[in-house]
Amino acid sequence: GSAAIASTVPTLEAEAPKAVANHAGRSFPEGFLWGSATASYQVEGAVKEGGRGVSIWDTFAHTPGKVDSGDTGDVADDFYHRFPQDIALMKELGLKTCRFSIAWPRIFPNGTGQPNQAGIDFYRRLADALLAAGIEPYATLYHWDLPQTLQDKGGWQNRDTAKAFAEYAGYTAGKLSDRVKHFMTMNEMRTFVEVGYQSGRHAPGLKLGRKDLAQLTHHVVLGHGLGVQAVRAHAQKGTLVGLAENVSSITPAIEAPEHIEAARKAMREDNTMYLGVILDGNYTDHYLQKLGADAPQFTAEDLRAISTPMDFVGVNVYTASYVRAADNELGYAHVPMPKSYPHMLSPWLNIGPEALYWVPKLVNDLWKPKALFITENGASSADTVNGDGHVYDMDRVMYLRNYLGHLQRAVAEGVPVKGYFLWSLLDNFEWADGYAKRFGIIYVDFKTQKRTPKLSADFYKEVIRRNALA
Ligand code: NOJ
Repeated sequence: GSAAIASTVPTLEAEAPKAVANHAGRSFPEGFLWGSATASYQVEGAVKEGGRGVSIWDTFAHTPGKVDSGDTGDVADDFYHRFPQDIALMKELGLKTCRFSIAWPRIFPNGTGQPNQAGIDFYRRLADALLAAGIEPYATLYHWDLPQTLQDKGGWQNRDTAKAFAEYAGYTAGKLSDRVKHFMTMNEMRTFVEVGYQSGRHAPGLKLGRKDLAQLTHHVVLGHGLGVQAVRAHAQKGTLVGLAENVSSITPAIEAPEHIEAARKAMREDNTMYLGVILDGNYTDHYLQKLGADAPQFTAEDLRAISTPMDFVGVNVYTASYVRAADNELGYAHVPMPKSYPHMLSPWLNIGPEALYWVPKLVNDLWKPKALFITENGASSADTVNGDGHVYDMDRVMYLRNYLGHLQRAVAEGVPVKGYFLWSLLDNFEWADGYAKRFGIIYVDFKTQKRTPKLSADFYKEVIRRNALA
């Protein structure tokens, strides 16, 4: 009534500071792990140092026409030498954790056989420097830089690569688990399989047919499962192991019961050959029937290894893949996206913030993992350095603010998401897009290696400081 109106101004003034202090309904749980993510080939450079062997990405990037502008990861962010300064920047942001990947060819330059002590030493120094800064290291064992010698023997088409991966994973975890307590076997199986071996846009640049691809995919998930077992066998007690998968980011087109039910079905079916078989211990009947004679060859023992229980599940979420209920055999269909749908600088990067609610929620509903992490989320922007020396990446801030709002909704409802890793700390080598697509919250001048935190870094710092949306 009118009394309320009369008191509006003083009440608002009195309550404003309290609202900011409490962030009513916008907080994350105490101890939520705020982090950043990078990958070896995208940031390290120093490709010929420390006894590192050649990876398929060295070969691919040096093949004319494969990467935009002929860019390579030869120098990248020179993180191999500059990590101490970069960790100082992480500390400045207040990061609690940092996800990096280990280059397989630094540990086993030839994929198998003789290990390289200098490689282990590098990641020990990196982990020690993080720990000294109060930042918990999370290590990915395979972020796409397969040793070239293994590709020469067929790469993931060769079942032996799964065994080679497990040997590398076990050896590395055994050497690092005194400092690194969290390992992820593989990063984005779906991406490196489908982009590396189907469309050929990524290393090794092959275009396999359906049957070969299905068999290769099976070797990849087998490698993951054997990797989990190897980490457990060699790492210190208390070491946790999971993965970081690019699940199909199923999101109901609108939040009506029939579309939510469709999304649940789609989450299992669309991910069956990757995260699904790992968590279910089976491929879906529909998947195997659809492939018919092209279905992969596998044994019951393979399925047991593939589905070795994990300590946590990590999901990389960038876009939303919208589904609706449909009157078909599967009960769902993907919604075609209008041309006018907004995206970030990378054309594939549709803006679908609700995915950061729905993906962890559906994964949790279907598979009840012990813990969940958002192992990647972030965006590319057309960043430029302003006349005053700052980078005002308002679109990345908009993206992050909206996605984090939906992540907050998930944790507030009890979905066990324990942490969030922003991709990426630094602008870096964005695979076939080279350096033109910047994903960092810290700008990198690739000529001088100068780092400039962007406005999104200030935004993220404030989110971390409040442990709440900012
Ligand atoms: C997923 C990949 O894991 C990472 O390497 C890549 O740079 C980002 N997405 C952005 O595309």
